[in-house]
Amino acid sequence: MLQGKSILLVVAGGIAAYKSLELIRRLRERGAAVRCILTRAAQEFVTPLSVATLSRERAFTDLFSLTDEHEIGHIRLARDCDLVVVAPATADLVTKAALGIADDLASTVLLATDRPLLLAPAMNHVMWNSPATQANIATLAARGAAVVGPNSGLLAEGETGVGRMAEPAEILAAIDRVLGGAGLLEGMRALVTSGPTHEPIDPVRYIANRSSGKQGHAIATALAALGARTTLVSGPVRLPDPRGVEVVHVETAEEMLAACLRALPADVAVCAAAVADWRVAAPAARKLKKAADAPPPSIALAPNPDILATLSRRDERRPRLVVGFAAETEDLVANARAKLLRKGCDWVLANDVSPGSGTFGGDSNAVHVVDAGDVESWPRMGKDEVARRLALRVAAALGRR
Ligand code: CTP
Repeated sequence: MLQGKSILLVVAGGIAAYKSLELIRRLRERGAAVRCILTRAAQEFVTPLSVATLSRERAFTDLFSLTDEHEIGHIRLARDCDLVVVAPATADLVTKAALGIADDLASTVLLATDRPLLLAPAMNHVMWNSPATQANIATLAARGAAVVGPNSGLLAEGETGVGRMAEPAEILAAIDRVLGGAGLLEGMRALVTSGPTHEPIDPVRYIANRSSGKQGHAIATALAALGARTTLVSGPVRLPDPRGVEVVHVETAEEMLAACLRALPADVAVCAAAVADWRVAAPAARKLKKAADAPPPSIALAPNPDILATLSRRDERRPRLVVGFAAETEDLVANARAKLLRKGCDWVLANDVSPGSGTFGGDSNAVHVVDAGDVESWPRMGKDEVARRLALRVAAALGRR
């Protein structure tokens, strides 16, 4: 049931807009209050009157309508809801949302909202597969948006491919998923580390690793989506800061540890960062220069602090739940359990990073959740889904489910 929930539905201009009428009807049937915004193009496909009749609310269409601004400004429209759903999400509106363009009511509301966002894309399959659309969707997903569909099938132009908007029933299921856990971690504080660390050799060179930060960022997003006040301590990554998360940017392992200690107390800490095990013992203050005939320099390394082990230490600042990751290529579970005992954390998520597994830098992950007594193996799934499941498991462990 969606009793008491309020949904802001943004309808953009695509033939799939007719299915949005059915979505409004079903949302109302399930007890949700629905407000709708129609873009100018959407009004070529469905009328404000049909939307208003089904939603029993006036349809919002114009950013500069004095009546709209008088009765309910666009900022309130953007925030007075539990969830914003964009269906159909056209290539144009997805692009505007990713870039922060605000030139009509729909795009302005998407920029102004701080509510969870669900996108149901619908477009021609070539447009969907274009690098531009894929990059824009990835940007929005990295900021915490959920995406349902598109499905494969016959498209309006008579071509076949991926681009059909998800069916209303699928969108409803996605709405349930997004709203399902909302508020579960309300009042809790979460700390997440993510990305690689850079350990300087001299002012221009550093030691690094291939971590993308995708899994850690997704976990911070998922914990925040459940209502946790979340601090993400991130090494250098090419990802946007997730919405609704306090992000602390660091470079080295020592900076990461200091930022984590400053972020305490926390109820849960998840260490997903690929922290360099060693740093350069004495980084050069000036750029190292080649000297004719001189042998190449050798670099002496010093061990870095172990952030996971430090946070797991049994003192009064220890988070109630501390979760680590183990990147393994063999004996996943045995190695993960050894790591759990060595570092003193509560769970280790072991993932297979063998060449060809697609885990490092990729969008999916297959993890085994190892605790002191048990192993739970999850099938390969998107990193966002791993994050969502982990966040729900955290909520359960903290007594919230
Ligand atoms: N970790 C950390 N601080 C470090 C090193 C690791 O917090 N200085 C955390 C990582 O965030 C991760 C876990 O410890 O949660 C991984 O431990 P690590 O011993 O580095 O394991 P692997 O990377 O799997 O490598 P190895 O097999 O070499 O131990």
